[in-house]
Amino acid sequence: MPIFENPAGTSAASLANAPANTADHLVAAGAFTEEERNAVYRAIETRRDVRDQFRPDPLPDDLVRRLLEAAHSAPSVGFMQPWNFVLIRQGETRERVWQAFHQANEEACRMFEGDRRAQYQRLKLEGIRKAPLSICITCDTKRGGPVVLGRTHNPDTDVYSTVCAVQNLWLAARAEGVGVGWVSIFHEDAIKAILGIPEHVKIVAWLCVGYVDELYDMPELAVKGWRDRLPLDKLVFEEGWQDCEDM
Ligand SMILES: Cc1cc2nc3c(=O)[nH]c(=O)nc-3n(C[C@H](O)[C@H](O)[C@H](O)COP(=O)(O)O)c2cc1C
Repeated sequence: MPIFENPAGTSAASLANAPANTADHLVAAGAFTEEERNAVYRAIETRRDVRDQFRPDPLPDDLVRRLLEAAHSAPSVGFMQPWNFVLIRQGETRERVWQAFHQANEEACRMFEGDRRAQYQRLKLEGIRKAPLSICITCDTKRGGPVVLGRTHNPDTDVYSTVCAVQNLWLAARAEGVGVGWVSIFHEDAIKAILGIPEHVKIVAWLCVGYVDELYDMPELAVKGWRDRLPLDKLVFEEGWQDCEDM
């Protein structure tokens, strides 16, 4: 089998469907209007990770669909689209996931010492029970077959792609007045068992999703004195790596 032949892929169908003139698909790509640009930057700058500000009212299906369409518009390595979106509304399932979080969070807490541990204990790090909807976003490492264009030398690019989908959803949610909180404190296998996720599929994000009326004006971890935003100028290097103090 030639190395780029893709048994599970769509290459033959895609070739058959390829337009005679691909230039027909080139469309204007100038800058947005100032108002449109401001809206994009506003979504980026005011997006927050939400743990506690969720309203209980359910999200309409068409809104959820728009968020999922935004996620599904993300870039992906070799157009692999490795994501799936598991929607969880049932309180009973969310309660089981919260128990998995709680156990892992106790373990995490013990990894900090002294005052830092006490500070950690005061943080709220999830909204699993409060948010009316959870979305588990996964990465199917086998999608597109064994050889995926662009992923040949870095298999992690499938997960990077899935993270792009998460960020698209997060920004679209901000524009919709919907808060999103990413929960990563659990043993992946515990959540996989609850949702019946197969071995080759990775959990990338557990997102708590719900309407919000208020958001912090800066990261909650900064508000609560855990860690501040780093100065951008210290993170930008010209032409190559530069020495930087431990941050
Ligand atoms: C990969 C990833 C995992 C995260 N996991 C958690 C988590 O388990 N619990 C939590 O409270 N926040 C979690 N967060 C949110 C971060 O704490 C948050 O993004 C950061 O503090 C900056 O705040 P902001 O998102 O409001 O700007 C996670 C964020 C990312 C990107």
